[in-house]
Parts: sequence; structure tokens; C-alpha cells
Amino acid sequence: MPLQIIVGAQWGDEGKGRIVDWFAAQADVVARYNGGDNAGHSVTVGTQLFKLHLVPSGIIHSRPVAVLGNGMVINPESLLKEMDMLQALGVEISPRRIRLSHAAHLITPAHRALDAALEARRGKGNIGTTGRGIGPAYTDKAARTNLRIADLLAPDFAGRLASHIAAANNTLQSLDAPALEIQPVLDQFAEYVRRLTPFIADTSAETCEVLARGGYVLAEGAQGTLLDLDHGTYPFVTSSATIAAGVFSGLGIGITAARDAVVTGVCKSFQTRVGSGPFPTEVFDDLALRLRGTGANPWDEYGTTTGRARRVGWLDGVLLRYATRINGFTELVITKMDILSGFETLKLCVAYTKDGQTTPDLPFGPTELEGYEPVYETFPGWSEDVSNLRNWDDLPLAARDYLAAISRLAGVPVRLVSVGPEREQIVPR
Ligand code: IMP
Repeated sequence: MPLQIIVGAQWGDEGKGRIVDWFAAQADVVARYNGGDNAGHSVTVGTQLFKLHLVPSGIIHSRPVAVLGNGMVINPESLLKEMDMLQALGVEISPRRIRLSHAAHLITPAHRALDAALEARRGKGNIGTTGRGIGPAYTDKAARTNLRIADLLAPDFAGRLASHIAAANNTLQSLDAPALEIQPVLDQFAEYVRRLTPFIADTSAETCEVLARGGYVLAEGAQGTLLDLDHGTYPFVTSSATIAAGVFSGLGIGITAARDAVVTGVCKSFQTRVGSGPFPTEVFDDLALRLRGTGANPWDEYGTTTGRARRVGWLDGVLLRYATRINGFTELVITKMDILSGFETLKLCVAYTKDGQTTPDLPFGPTELEGYEPVYETFPGWSEDVSNLRNWDDLPLAARDYLAAISRLAGVPVRLVSVGPEREQIVPR
């Protein structure tokens, strides 16, 4: 299996980090291809909980090289903090283990300040961003004015950074937000240049070389399909290509690698969303609390990056079928099956209605979700605790029936299910 792409099938937070961790032990390369520290990937190993935002989750295994691809936007402060945290937890952090694309884009304090100021300006109609400067950094990228990782190596980097902050200050002032002082930013970045220089590489060339010799590259998507800039619930999306196709431009690998790629869609057994935007199967009150958890456990439905309570609902099979088509999933992983234990009945959205008409698909994909009502199929639940199960055949019949219905709706097989946050709490098919 030369290339495997792990993609979130929903609005992010599907549990991709721990699924990457499951596969990564065999990988030669684990690579992030989109987004930045808006992502939050959690992996629990024994008593240790690793919360990662930028470094690919597969770093926790000793074998793979971790690549931060050119499609990413990277805040050097967050990256260095994360590298220090990993090192303190005993993970080797060296240029042998981490490769940083020269063509990835930088997130600066100006981008973060702009993210906050733009959200404040949007007021009630805000996107609910993570506040990490993601949108402003990708905006500068598209405007061809942004600084890239390779610029850290330029002799005149300080001057370019000062111009970038000065330009952002003009925009901040027009948004009635305070301007940034330039010198402290220059001082911070001088340190980042010193520490990050050894990690900068042509990661496209290196990853292609691994593929050419038959190596196993595991691409780790951040966020989810429905947050994709082009194919998600626009404008309530992130600013990058989250879908499987983003791998090719976001890592700089040729499309021919897709020929025998495995595309793994990771999908929660129910639906969650952080931030604003439509959510047809959303539930509230006691039912929501049951699905979300109280926040007492690290795996309850509260954002890894922002700590915000996630909105929760029943699994939306219409959107899952859409995600399967857009990504070309070859298989599914269903996470958090343990959370559904104890429900008398479960609901699965299999179609929508609007104005008395039922439709199995949406006319314009997920962009026009407003006004559609979900049509549910109801399934019997199960009372057994499934968190200690490791064999497919031991899963309660009702759980297997529910999984079979998901698989039928999506038209692809379920390969694994997760039944708890621990590394070993996986049931393979
Ligand atoms: P941004 O990526 O910070 O610009 O936020 C845009 C939208 O994507 C907001 O609704 C965020 O809550 C959402 N978002 C961004 N990253 C993640 C993630 O890793 N998981 C879930 N939602 C995310």
C-alpha cells in the first residue's frame, strides 16, 4: 500500500489522530497536507495523552518521518511549543524525524490578530473560527503576498517580516483593532529562524522518492470534508483543501500515486460540529448532553484546540454518502461506537425533505442545507458496554446492524471501529 489517505468524513474531530496512530507503526512517512494549528489530534498511549495541532500524529511511533507539507500554514511559535512538548514526553525530535516544507506558508501574529478582528467585525454572522490566523494566512497566500517557510532563510527576512506586519497594521486599524508592535515580532522570529532552519526541506522531492521505492506514505487530513473550502458548507468552512484530492497539491506528489491509494474516511458514529453553520441532524438538551459528555473526560465533545463545546447530532448518512463521493473513500472507520451503548434506539439520517419532497441527495451538495429536514431510519440500540471488545463478531448484533446500514448508505466497507480513546480500543473487521 504505497499511499493511504486518512480524511475526516464530517466536520472534523472524527478521531483521525488515533486512527493515524493505528496505521502509522508501519509507515515510512506520515504527512500533514492542509491546515495549521486549528487542528487538534488526540492520541492516548497508556496514561499519556498526546494533543497535537501541527506535527502529524504518526510521530509518536519511532519509524515514520513526519512531514509538514507545503499545503499547510504554520505558526512557528505553536510548532516549536509542540516539538518541545513531544520531546519532553520522550519522542525524538530531530531533522531525521521532522521535515518542514520550504513551500509551506507562515502564520504570524498579524494573521492571528486579523482573524480576531475579522470575526469581531462579522458579529453575529461570524464563522466561529479557531482564532489561529488560518483564514488570513491563506488569504495572503492567495494574494501572493505571504511569507513562506523558505523565507526564514532569506538574508532580508527581518525586513520582509517588518513590511508584512506594517501592511497588516493598516488593515487592523481599518477594523478598529490595535496595531502590533513590530520589533517584538522581529525578535521572536529571530529565535524561530535559528531553531527551525535545520528542519526545512524539499518535502515534495523526499516524499516522491519514498513513493518511488514502494514506501508507505500515510497522509493525515486535518479538519473534515464538510469544512473543505470548495466542497464544504461554504462559507462556514476552513480555508484549505481538506479532502483527499488536497493531498496531491498539499504534499507535492504526482496524481498517479492515486492509482492504488487507499482512501480511509473516518466518521464518528454520530455527528458533531464546532463553530457556526447549518447542521440538519443537530440535537439539544439531554440527548445532546449524552452524546457530548460533560467535559469530565478528555475525549468528551469539547474542542481540543479551543475547548468549545461541540454541537452534536445523529449521524447524517446523506452527507456521509456525499463525503464518500467527493473523496473516493475505499473504506470507512467508524469511531466512538462506545458512546452509543445504552441508547434504546438510534437514528440515522438517510434522506432529506423540503417542501414535501423527499430527496436522497442534495441538489447543490452541502452548500444549501438550510430548510432541509432530515428523514430518519430508526435502529434498535444495545445496552452492552463495547469498550473492551476487540473482535468484530463479539459486537452486539444491533451494533453490527447499525454499522451495516452505514456501510450500505456510503457504499463502502467498514474496516475498523473504535470503542474508546486508548490506542488498543479498536475492533478490526
Ligand atoms: P478556521 O479553520 O480557524 O478558520 O475555522 C473555520 C471553521 O472550521 C470554524 O467553524 C472552526 O470551528 C472549524 N474548524 C477548524 N479546524 C477545525 C478542526 O480541527 N476541527 C473541527 N472544526 C474545525
